[in-house]
Amino acid sequence: MGARILRGVPDPPESWADLQERIADTRFGELRHLEEVDSTNRYLLDEARQGAAEGVVAVADHQTAGRGRLGRTWEAPPRASLLVSVLLRPDLEPARSHLATMAAGVAMVEAVWLTAGFTPSLKWPNDLVVGDRKLAGMLSEAELRDGRLDALVVGIGVNVNWDEFPPELAGTAVACNQVAGHPVDRAALLGAFLERLDDRYATLLRPGGDEAVLGEYRQRCSTIGREVRVELADDESLEGTATGVDDAGRLDVETRDGVTPVAVGDVVHLRPTDG
Ligand code: BTN
Repeated sequence: MGARILRGVPDPPESWADLQERIADTRFGELRHLEEVDSTNRYLLDEARQGAAEGVVAVADHQTAGRGRLGRTWEAPPRASLLVSVLLRPDLEPARSHLATMAAGVAMVEAVWLTAGFTPSLKWPNDLVVGDRKLAGMLSEAELRDGRLDALVVGIGVNVNWDEFPPELAGTAVACNQVAGHPVDRAALLGAFLERLDDRYATLLRPGGDEAVLGEYRQRCSTIGREVRVELADDESLEGTATGVDDAGRLDVETRDGVTPVAVGDVVHLRPTDG
């Protein structure tokens, strides 16, 4: 990718050792730290099919075939990003699996605050952004059995310590170190994320948990209230005001013709100068 990574990034070995202790009492105590893998999502989906238990976590220093949303790839130089997937087996209808992804998004926002000292927002559906620059992306992949959700792998890639981005990302991406003004420890970020996710996921599984998670997500979602262009399939797009996120996780976009709930698409936050 032509990007250089920071020299002297902390990530000292002891912070990975501390991490094991930190997460031992959460449901995410089984952490697999891989030096290199094609994709942590692919790895965990295969583990899930072979019966791995809820809570297994895969984190990689480098991915050779990282997966992004909508069939895209996700690339990062070794150790510049936190590349992590968690295996969940929630008792949720498949159509409600977005709630677990939302809980993870909120947990990562909190983890960035606790570790790097700034608070990103959520851009619908599941990006973390600072202003309009992308800090992190999420991809959840489900394994169904007899129409039921058997496993859900939630994968997140966070730009943590990037010296500079390649030209194609330079105007649209941002990394934790650039906002914080100093390198950020990936192991500490992961520890905070898994602790917060343990809590958020427990909330989701309790009665009334859906509403709690949706409420947190909506509060932190900077797409709501914005003028947006949503790029849909087949080169179609929709421009209007994002008025909310419904219980099914769809973005409500209001145009002159009324409100359209959008289930899948890429959102561009329009500035006043764009329109
Ligand atoms: C996006 O397109 O914004 C989603 C990117 C998700 C990337 C993460 S990195 C860890 C996990 N493993 C993958 O192969 N993808 C996700």
